[in-house]
Amino acid sequence: MTILVLGAGGQVGASLRWRALARGQGVVGLNHAELDITDAAIVRRTIADLRPAIVINCAAYTAVDKAEAEPELAMAINGTGAGNVALACGLAAVPLIHLSTDYVFDGTAQGPYGEDAATGPTTVYGRTKLAGEKAVYDAWGKHIILRTAWVFGAMGENFVKTMLRLGASGSTNLKVVDDQVGGPTPADAIADACLDIAAHVARSDIVPWGTYHFAGAPAVTWFGFARAILAHYPDLVIAPCTTDAFPRPARRPANSVLDCTRIRAAFGISQPDWGPYLAQLLRDLGETGSHDGKGVS
Ligand SMILES: NC(=O)c1ccc[n+]([C@@H]2O[C@H](COP(=O)([O-])OP(=O)(O)OC[C@H]3O[C@@H](n4cnc5c(N)ncnc54)[C@H](OP(=O)(O)O)[C@@H]3O)[C@@H](O)[C@H]2O)c1
Repeated sequence: MTILVLGAGGQVGASLRWRALARGQGVVGLNHAELDITDAAIVRRTIADLRPAIVINCAAYTAVDKAEAEPELAMAINGTGAGNVALACGLAAVPLIHLSTDYVFDGTAQGPYGEDAATGPTTVYGRTKLAGEKAVYDAWGKHIILRTAWVFGAMGENFVKTMLRLGASGSTNLKVVDDQVGGPTPADAIADACLDIAAHVARSDIVPWGTYHFAGAPAVTWFGFARAILAHYPDLVIAPCTTDAFPRPARRPANSVLDCTRIRAAFGISQPDWGPYLAQLLRDLGETGSHDGKGVS
């Protein structure tokens, strides 16, 4: 069977390609230049021609702050584009895994968000991703919407790389937000979760289609995550600060913690411990520190 990955040049898309190849899994990955999901006709033709066993859509407009100034473009990709993919999958009768985000929630809940919690995005990015979920839901029943959060990996830009740049720049003082909490999620673990779901879909007549949450554990604040990332920069003083002290065009959810019990019950997929993945990424990036992610706030 062949898996088609859209948005294959991004963090999760690139991991998917590598992890699929490592499993000996047939995979075709198309990046933005190779397939633009806003072009409905080309999306339809590509999926009809390739006839993959499943499509995994990682293509998205993910520049959260920039989206506030580009709402039409963000909606064209995250909303209409996601719908184009789902419609094309429906026409070709190909199951779809579509990635989404904690930003569909307003972040004010006291505990972890379950899949059925009320949505209420407060940013352009969140609204467009929610529109994408609805478009997928309306277009094609054989879908899995996988909401994740705080993605990090070897490809692309992410918080880990930003912190490492700051660590290496010789800064001695760093303030990091300590009133937003979430589950850092390795791109490789998301890729493995998608591949496990794809394998389940391939071998089983009964698939619990629908929306699932998948994020790393334990939950931590950005400050706590930064301390884990920069554990081997002893001269760097990292101080906690509030969201208000660090204003951004798009306000971040205070609570991004996703309840991941449903995906475990349905597919046997557990939350990944982000510590060992972070340690591996630091080694891959040539960072010398070795830690297990423990001892963070
Ligand atoms: N990053 C996070 O922290 C995070 C958190 C929660 C959920 N998610 C979700 O997880 C998924 C994967 O995220 P990621 O971190 O892998 O994002 P990413 O690294 O930004 O990758 C997204 C990819 O989509 C491509 N793309 C953009 N517009 C496209 C279009 N019109 N047609 C085809 N491809 C297009 C981008 O290519 P160009 O760069 O060339 O435009 C990029 O390679 C997304 O659905 C995202 O919303 C991410």
